[in-house]
Amino acid sequence: MTLLAQKLEQYQARVNSELARHINETAPISTTLNDAMAYGALLGGKRIRPFLVYAVGEMLGSPLDKLDPLACAIECVHAYSLIHDDLPAMDDDDLRRGHATCHKQFDEATAILAGDALQTLAFDIISQPNPELEMPNQLKMINKLAKASGNHGMCAGQALDLASENKQIDLSTLQTIHNSKTGALIQAAVELGALSKKELPESHLQSLITFAQSIGLAFQVQDDILDVIGDTKTLGKPQGSDVALHKSTYPALLGLEQAKLKADHLYQEALHALSQLPYNTQHLELFAEYIIKRNS
Ligand code: IPE
Ligand code: IPE
Ligand code: MG
Ligand code: MG
Ligand code: MG
Repeated sequence: MTLLAQKLEQYQARVNSELARHINETAPISTTLNDAMAYGALLGGKRIRPFLVYAVGEMLGSPLDKLDPLACAIECVHAYSLIHDDLPAMDDDDLRRGHATCHKQFDEATAILAGDALQTLAFDIISQPNPELEMPNQLKMINKLAKASGNHGMCAGQALDLASENKQIDLSTLQTIHNSKTGALIQAAVELGALSKKELPESHLQSLITFAQSIGLAFQVQDDILDVIGDTKTLGKPQGSDVALHKSTYPALLGLEQAKLKADHLYQEALHALSQLPYNTQHLELFAEYIIKRNS
């Protein structure tokens, strides 16, 4: 197993058990709602955002148990975004993480509520009193996650994504969509990891943010590429969904080859940002490579 695969597995195991604990912590009032939340959050998924929280935090010397709630919170927001992204009113997809989408397995109302409840669970988890997290930093973390999720982040990107179906948009608008719908949460994951260190020099934070922005955009460019060249079984979601909906994507706007070059350029940018840091960035370097080489 490669070093990166080992790390991914270690962090996945951690965040999965913590997520399950949080979702099942208290006896459910609505079993259906809890089942739908568990279905959307626990079944499959690469746990990319938790990886970033853990890898950045660990690089800066933070103990993993300090990072657990941050990793769980960001994955809850992400899982909610996927459940809603698949709804008939949005991308109308039937397959997610190799299983029927939440609204297909349950029903639309339950899927909407499971998404809502996962979002609030994220803020429940990240705001719980925690002596390990210094209070001012914990407040900053809550604010970061909120900003990255809403009308200055993921939701804004999703709104623009839907408004850009069947349309010819320019590259800078497409970049704004991708930076918002996907980049914002990826950047938040890196920043949550960074905030686990009491005081990080501003220049180090800036390099980490540049790294995050580069891999955040690269991640969505590769997601767009995989919609064209991936296969449904490996992806665990329907290949060709973007094409069917006439989505604005990098391959649609630039062609496949230019989209691949763009991903590679962003990877180089990410490596350059890491080279500015006086820490052991090996895991983040390997992760950046994985982002543009992955096939699922
Ligand atoms: C899919 O995200 C949606 C995008 C933002 C591109 P992931 O590819 O991280 O999905 P999971 O969590 O592994 O299922
Ligand atoms: C999703 O983008 C971004 C989110 C905020 C969920 P996509 O619509 O391309 O994600 P997939 O391809 O369905 O996973
Ligand atoms: Mg979408
Ligand atoms: Mg989608
Ligand atoms: Mg996609």
